[in-house]
Amino acid sequence: MQSHELRQRYLRFFQERNHAAIAVAPLVPEHDSSVLFTTAGMHPLVPCFRGVPHLAGRRLVDIQPCLRTNDILEVGDAQHLTFFEMCGNWSLGDYWKEQSIQWSYAFLTEELGIDPQRLLVTCFAGDQHAPRDEEAATVWRALGIQRIVFLPREDNWWGPVGTNGPCGPDTEIFYDREPNGTADQTPATHPQRFCEIWNNVFMQYDQQEDGTYLPLVQQSVDTGLGLERVVALLQGVETPYETDLFLPLIAAIRSIATQSNSFAERVVADHVRAATFILAEGVRPGNVAQGYVVRRLIRRAVRYGRELGMQGAFLAKLSAVVIEQMGAIYPHLVSMQQRIAMVLEDEELRFQRTIARGEKFFHQTADRTLAHAESILAGSEAFHLYETYGFPLELTEEYAEQRGLVVDRIGFQNAFEAHQLRSREGAKQRFAN
Ligand code: SER
Repeated sequence: MQSHELRQRYLRFFQERNHAAIAVAPLVPEHDSSVLFTTAGMHPLVPCFRGVPHLAGRRLVDIQPCLRTNDILEVGDAQHLTFFEMCGNWSLGDYWKEQSIQWSYAFLTEELGIDPQRLLVTCFAGDQHAPRDEEAATVWRALGIQRIVFLPREDNWWGPVGTNGPCGPDTEIFYDREPNGTADQTPATHPQRFCEIWNNVFMQYDQQEDGTYLPLVQQSVDTGLGLERVVALLQGVETPYETDLFLPLIAAIRSIATQSNSFAERVVADHVRAATFILAEGVRPGNVAQGYVVRRLIRRAVRYGRELGMQGAFLAKLSAVVIEQMGAIYPHLVSMQQRIAMVLEDEELRFQRTIARGEKFFHQTADRTLAHAESILAGSEAFHLYETYGFPLELTEEYAEQRGLVVDRIGFQNAFEAHQLRSREGAKQRFAN
C-alpha cells in the first residue's frame, strides 16, 4: 500500500464514523509561543481539551505535519525522524476509551489487515497521581489482545505540550517485528523489537505550572498514528527511508553522492525534508528560535553531505524532490519553492565556505586537548567555532563526541555572553558621538 492510499483510508475510516476532517495547522504555531514547532496533532487543539468548542464538532480527524528535534541525534537510525506526519483522531468530550481502542484495533486489523498476533499494547501502571488503567486493559482483553504490559509514567503518560496543559494516561500500540521472540521482552526492555505505531491518550488532567493536576472539564481522546512507520510496516520494510515516502529522495542523494553511507544518507534526507517544510513557512535561518533550528538542520545536512562526498550546493536540488513528491498534499511548498531554494542555497554556501577550515580548527583543538590527557573541550574553543566558522554548538558537540570529548557548555555560554557584552559596549562607543 502506497502512502497516498494510507492517508485516504485513514481519513475515510474516521469520516465514516462521523469525524470531521479539519485543516492542518502550520508547523510554526500561530498563537502559542510556548513551543517553537507543532510537535503533535493535538497541539493546535489544546484549547478544545480545556472546553473551548471546536467549530467542526466533537469528533475530528487530520494528518498533521509535526517537527520534533529532541531526538535529532538519533536520526540516521532505522526509526527516528525530525519531520513526520501524524494521523490523528480526536474525541472532544465525546467517545471515551472503549470506542477509541475498538476503532484503532479495527483500523489496524480489518482496514489495514495487520495480523493481531503481531500487536502488543502498553497501559499506564498507575502512581500517586492517577490510577492503574485497568479500564483500557479490559477493553484490549475483550478484543482478544493477550500481550498487555503495564508501564510507568515515563512510558505511558502523554503531555502536556510545554510546561502545563492537558495530559493523561495513554495506551500505546506496538508492532512486534519478531513474532517468534521470547515472551518476556517488552517495548521498555527491547525497543528495537517493538515498533510503536499508535498512541491513544486519554486526556483527563490539566497539569499546572507547579506540577499539580486539576481535572479537565471533559474527558477527551487524542490519538496519534505515525504515518511513516505504518507505511514501512505495510510495505514490508524496516525503515521509513525504504518506503515510497523517501525512496525518490534517497535515490536523488545517491545520484549526487560519491561515497555510500546509509546513516549519512538518512540524515541528509530527513534534514532536507524538515528544512523544506520549515522554510515553506517563511522562517529564515538565524541564531534564535525556529531560525536556529533550521540553521542547525541545514548545517548538519551539509556536514553529512560531506561524508557522502557531495560537492557544491546540493540541498535545493534535493528539496525540489521533496516538493515534487509532497506538493500535491501541501501546495504551499510549491508556491514557496523558489524562495526555499534561494534560502537553502544561501545558507548552504555560507557554511560550505567555512566548514573545512572549521573542521581543521576543531581537530587541531581536539588533538591539543587529548595531548594534555583532557576530556573536556574548552567552551571558548567551541565559541570560536560558532563565531568564526558557523558551527552550531550542538554540531561541535557531535564532532567532539566522535573524538571522545565533551564540550564545556557553561564555558561556551560564558564566552557567548562576554562576546555580547563586548559587542554592546562597542556599539555604544560607535554611536557615542
Ligand atoms: N499526542 C499524542 C502523541 O503525540 C497522541 O497524538 O503521541
